[in-house]
Amino acid sequence: MIRSFLFVPGDSERKLEKAPDAGADAIIVDLEDSVSAENRPRARELAREFIEGREDAWLRINPVDSGEAMADLQAVMPAAPGGIVLPKARSADDATRLATKLDELESRFDVAAGHTRILPLCTERPRALFSLDSYVGATPRLAGLTWGAEDLSAALGARARRDEDGNWLPPYEMARSLCLFAAAAAEVPAIDTVYTDFRDAKGLASYAARAARDGFTGMLAIHPAQVATINDAFSPSDDDVTRAERIIALFRDNPGAGALALDGEMIDNPHHVLARRIVALAKWLKTTQEGRTQ
Ligand code: COA
Ligand code: MG
Repeated sequence: MIRSFLFVPGDSERKLEKAPDAGADAIIVDLEDSVSAENRPRARELAREFIEGREDAWLRINPVDSGEAMADLQAVMPAAPGGIVLPKARSADDATRLATKLDELESRFDVAAGHTRILPLCTERPRALFSLDSYVGATPRLAGLTWGAEDLSAALGARARRDEDGNWLPPYEMARSLCLFAAAAAEVPAIDTVYTDFRDAKGLASYAARAARDGFTGMLAIHPAQVATINDAFSPSDDDVTRAERIIALFRDNPGAGALALDGEMIDNPHHVLARRIVALAKWLKTTQEGRTQ
């Protein structure tokens, strides 16, 4: 379970050097929007060097229909990235096309078959919103679904994405919800998008808390200062875990019961499912992520 993905522009040696200290669960080396065309060849080299030997390093390639994606993959796949972030996906077809290419490259570069996973940005193009159910069963490499508002708003010709209070305007709120539904339908994690105002720590904390509340299991970051807040928001609190354990115990002690009462509240199967998810996540964080976060 990845709570925080930190984006790092692939052409910045300085930021690549700093990224591992941020405490992110995964680092995404970007070859797309944060890198100019002229810097891209150098960025590919830096990305390959950075990713080599790092379990937590991912790569954002250019869109599969851009003419750049294959060169990105050829250059970096020998370093066996943990995953590929796929921008501007038109539908799950783009992810399955990428998966087929990864089959070939993993075999050519002696990387374990299926090692590199795929995280599509599933709302960056208007047409993508009409085929989000295509992700269901599309490829076993699917690591989750995430979304982006910037490219979508550019495609719409919109003049704003957020209202005066910083809340998403309805078109983006809808794209965010569709990403959440599509991820749940495909049974993969939903990852919320970047919070671009990286100096607004309070705003980020409340945004991330809302994302966790709605069912997202992680979020994209653009600045090291955002990582601890994001990790915290997507880690169940001690109180959450204690309550979840009580719910599990209640069902265990009442075999055959459908609905039960806990502290004056009705508890039934959906609560049980959520409780098991929280306890599993807490256990997993304890065993695998301890020591990697501050
Ligand atoms: N990864 C690693 N280190 C980063 C970083 C990142 N994403 N963003 C900033 N830093 C480092 C800076 O190098 C700086 O360290 P230094 O002073 O020792 O060099 C320190 O953190 C503080 O940075 P700050 O001055 O607050 O920000 P900035 O003005 O240098 O950079 C951004 C601001 C937005 C340009 C930068 O955070 C960034 O490049 N983010 C990622 C952009 C991206 O990948 N976008 C694509 C996905 S939307
Ligand atoms: Mg973009």
